[in-house]
Amino acid sequence: MDEEEFRKHFMTKSVFNQANSLDMSYVPEKIYCRNEAIKNLVFNFRRILEEEEQPSINCLILGKGGVGKTCTARYFGRNFKTIALEKDVDVFIEYYNCINFRSKSKIIRELLAKYTHGSGRGFSDDEALKLILKQLIREKGYMLLIIDEVHLLRSDEVLAFLDIAETYGHQNAKLSIILISRNKDWMTIETERILSRLNEKIRLKPYNYDEAKKILEYRSDLAFKEYVVDDDILSMISQIVTDHENMRHGIEILRKSGLYADKENLDRINADTIRAASNEVYPTFRGEIVDQLNDQELFALFGIARSLINKDEPFTLVDDAFEEYQIISETYSIEPHVKMSFRKYIRTLNQLKIIASKTVRIEEAERGRHLEITLLDIPALKLEEFLIEIFNRKFSS
Ligand SMILES: Nc1ncnc2c1ncn2[C@@H]1O[C@H](COP(=O)(O)OP(=O)(O)OP(=O)(O)O)[C@@H](O)[C@H]1O
Ligand SMILES: [Mg+2]
Repeated sequence: MDEEEFRKHFMTKSVFNQANSLDMSYVPEKIYCRNEAIKNLVFNFRRILEEEEQPSINCLILGKGGVGKTCTARYFGRNFKTIALEKDVDVFIEYYNCINFRSKSKIIRELLAKYTHGSGRGFSDDEALKLILKQLIREKGYMLLIIDEVHLLRSDEVLAFLDIAETYGHQNAKLSIILISRNKDWMTIETERILSRLNEKIRLKPYNYDEAKKILEYRSDLAFKEYVVDDDILSMISQIVTDHENMRHGIEILRKSGLYADKENLDRINADTIRAASNEVYPTFRGEIVDQLNDQELFALFGIARSLINKDEPFTLVDDAFEEYQIISETYSIEPHVKMSFRKYIRTLNQLKIIASKTVRIEEAERGRHLEITLLDIPALKLEEFLIEIFNRKFSS
């Protein structure tokens, strides 16, 4: 390609009006069909703005993947802050996704750095929390801490967060918490004691067809120019969303179809584009999580993908994946870690729902059992493509 042609691709028209409104982290101005949940949050948290002794409130938002847990919580946080300011209460909204902050300490360190500008090094969690709470009182502020994918913390860590008001005294804890988790994940960490610290459990059900359509109509109005997406197309995507019970799927289809239309220089998104885009979307596979993995975890995942491709079977075994992992590490001149560490990365990938693994008993195997690894709903070749893109970005200079 010469420069002229390169330039030309920047000049062609686009179906997008605001492409970033389909990014995963984007929280729209309006949230449809979640009025009950939002009202529920309002009635729980508005006491903070009304009562002299600002109370500590803990709520949990539960629901399957792609039902709007994250966007509902973030929407609430943003608007709660605005209303609070009008009532002269300075609320700091702090959002942490445990995919990026995988322990209580990591979250507390980050908060400490932000509020006291210290590195947080050398402090215990307890000391750090005390400093943060003191700072909130000094600034006459109040913190709403949103902890997403909270199942990645240990039960005792979650309990420690929910127990802050008890531990440090209600008058000292100018802090409330919203936890977010998928139903099944939550069951792995729930305990009686955690339950007893929750003011409210808010459950979100998957959207039905009409709800899905209303939301998609709004999101496509935001994202695209007029006439790009017509009503039939919206119906089609709404049906896919309803079938999969996952709104993320619909948003991803819109995004991919728009990109495709631009590439092919189309003015509109048609049914074929939707079908093609839909086949390219793997609703349980979340690329943004893979993007956040550390180098060793990425190498481990690459090893799994490679060994699945080589075997051409739906599952692979740890030993085979480990061999591929060693080869890949060497290709990138990175010292491979020992098998025990590799197993740890597999556990993490499993926990993050990037892979699934199960222990299977077999007669012949050493010690009678082995670990089978599978991918969720993305084909190994697709995953490899995706990883190569990340590797090119990260490891070539
Ligand atoms: N009511 C809604 N109005 C507008 N957009 C929505 C709504 N519900 C979901 N979305 C969009 O659908 C996508 C998925 O929603 P979200 O990320 O909040 O799901 P989630 O329940 O947190 O899923 P997961 O458990 O996979 O994290 C996001 O792009 C979000 O903006
Ligand atoms: Mg979420």
